Amino acid sequence: MTLRLCCAWIFVLLLPGLSDGGKLLVVPMVGSHWLSMQHVVEKLAERGHEVVVLMPEVSWQMKATQAYTVKSYPVTHTLEELDNSFREFVATHLKDLPFPLNTLAMFNSSWNAFHMFFTQCQDLFNNKEIQQHLNQSGFDAVLTDPILLCGATLANYFSLPFVFFMRGFPCSLHYEAPQCPNPLSYVPRLFTFNSDHMTFFQRVENALVSLLELVYCNVYYSEALKLSSDVLQKDVSLVDLVSSASIWLLRFDFVFEYVRPVMPNMVFIGGINCAQKKPLPKVCSYCCRKLKKKNKLNTQTHVNLPCHFEN
Ligand SMILES: *[C@@H]1O[C@H](CO)[C@@H](O)[C@H](O)[C@H]1NC(C)=O
Ligand SMILES: *[C@@H]1O[C@H](CO)[C@@H](O)[C@H](O)[C@H]1NC(C)=O
Repeated sequence: MTLRLCCAWIFVLLLPGLSDGGKLLVVPMVGSHWLSMQHVVEKLAERGHEVVVLMPEVSWQMKATQAYTVKSYPVTHTLEELDNSFREFVATHLKDLPFPLNTLAMFNSSWNAFHMFFTQCQDLFNNKEIQQHLNQSGFDAVLTDPILLCGATLANYFSLPFVFFMRGFPCSLHYEAPQCPNPLSYVPRLFTFNSDHMTFFQRVENALVSLLELVYCNVYYSEALKLSSDVLQKDVSLVDLVSSASIWLLRFDFVFEYVRPVMPNMVFIGGINCAQKKPLPKVCSYCCRKLKKKNKLNTQTHVNLPCHFEN
């Protein structure tokens, strides 16, 4: 019966006309995250979907184009404040601290940067005019970067199905939420800088960080969870919020990261970052050389991204 129903649905979806265009709400993350998402959004619009991108009035790299509709909203911080929080974040990545000081410093600086980005989400939910507009627009689905949890909260609020488009997520949430196996012996945890080949002590370190994952994400996302709980008018956990994602589009692959098990709704779309190739600026090759010297190339940080292009 289920199979027949499924076939019927596929048949309906294949009928010309019925499957034409959907109405998609895009809730992006500003900066580099948006650069790869933009190509996908443009393609979706090109294929006849009606795409609306929510953009904060203060952001990096985001601008309107002919391809999609932009709905912008005012925010309460300045560009200078946004820049400063990110400078601090990058500086911490280039410091050479030993474990566990590196992990703590990294956590601290990501938290500070996150706080700055997150105020944009608060501004979005405080804006009644936008909320009403979104509610009346009748979207079919939400495409969002999970990192701020803003899109996930919005999708839950309007009871819309949502698709995550992502590179990284702290605390292995992208494996935790879909109940994906995540073996400690060969899946390195964020902030450890280990590879999938770990010595005994690196595995101990991996295990310790994974124990902390249960705790630190609740601290990291405390503001986001408070906002989500207020908006949704019930107590929500991180897993509650993200586990109903329909599809996880992962902007990496086994070559770039490590071999590991995934769930059927997790799709590797590695290579999408290379849609626009350009020679590296000088300052970037300097970072790469520094990281290479420290033998920290194959980490999960964003900093290593351009190095692969250089090779
Ligand atoms: C955490 O970040 C704040 C703000 O950048 C800084 O003042 C503080 O010293 C940092 N604390 C640690 C433990 O790194
Ligand atoms: C959206 O609008 C409908 C109809 O006006 C209303 O019943 C519903 O509560 C609104 N939903 C949200 C999440 O604001």
